[in-house]
Amino acid sequence: MLIAGNWKMNTDVASGTKLASDIAKAAADADLGSVALAVCPPYVSLMPVGDALKGSGVALGAQNMHQEDGGAFTGEVSAAMLVSAGCTHVVLGHSERRQYFGESNHDIQQKVARARQNGLVPILCVGETKAERDAGDAKTVVEGQVRGGLADVPFDAPGDLVIAYEPVWAIGTGDTATPEQANEMHAFIRGLVADLYDKAFASDVHILYGGSMKPHNAEDLLSQPDVDGGLIGGASLDADSFIAIARHGAAIEAKA
Ligand code: PGA
Repeated sequence: MLIAGNWKMNTDVASGTKLASDIAKAAADADLGSVALAVCPPYVSLMPVGDALKGSGVALGAQNMHQEDGGAFTGEVSAAMLVSAGCTHVVLGHSERRQYFGESNHDIQQKVARARQNGLVPILCVGETKAERDAGDAKTVVEGQVRGGLADVPFDAPGDLVIAYEPVWAIGTGDTATPEQANEMHAFIRGLVADLYDKAFASDVHILYGGSMKPHNAEDLLSQPDVDGGLIGGASLDADSFIAIARHGAAIEAKA
C-alpha cells in the first residue's frame, strides 16, 4: 500500500519543512508495516523537505513537471531537475492541472514518458467530473485518460507506475466516493492496465484513491480489494491525520 500526500499550493519553506519533520517522526513512532509513504510539496520546498525526510523512508515527490528536458521554457521545471532535488515520484495529470492549466491527455502522456526516461515514478491522476458521472460517462472519460496518459510508455516493473483515481467531484469537497464506487472504478482501471501491458503487471500496480480521504473514512476505502492506497490532499497537511490514514492501511495489510 502507498499513502501519498499532495500538499498542492500550501505551506512555505519553513512550515513545509516542519510538516515533513513531523511526518517523519510520526511515521517512525507508528508501526506502519509495509505501507509506503510519500509527500509531494511545492517545488521550492523539495530540497529542505527531502533533508527533513532523510533516513525516514518517506519518499519525495513533485506535483508536476514539464515534458521537455530543458531549454527556453520560462518558469518550468524538468524531470532531471526533480531527480537532482531528490525526487523519486511525480504527480502528473492532476485534475487541477487539467482543469485550470489546460493539460491534455497528450501533454500528460509526454510527461509520463519523460518522467520514466529520468527514472521517476509517475503518479498518473485520472477521474471524471460530476457532470460526466451524471451523464453516465465516468468510465469512458477515465478510459480515455488511462489509455491517453500511458500510450506507448514502457514500464520495466509495476513499481514504476502509480495511478490515482480521483473523481473531481470528491476532491476537496468532503464528498467522498463510496467504497463501492471507488472499487468499481479501480477494478476497471486495473483491467485497462492489463490490456495495455499484462495481467501480472496490472495486478501489482498501485492504484490509489483520492478525493476527501480522511482518517474517518480511510478504513472503508482502503479495505476495498482494488484500492492500494490513497492520494491525500487536505488531510496530508497535518502529520497526525496523514499518519492516522497510513495506520488504517497498516491495520488492513496486517489482516490480509
Ligand atoms: P483532497 O485532495 O484529499 O483534499 O480531496 C486530493 C487530491 O486532490 O489529490
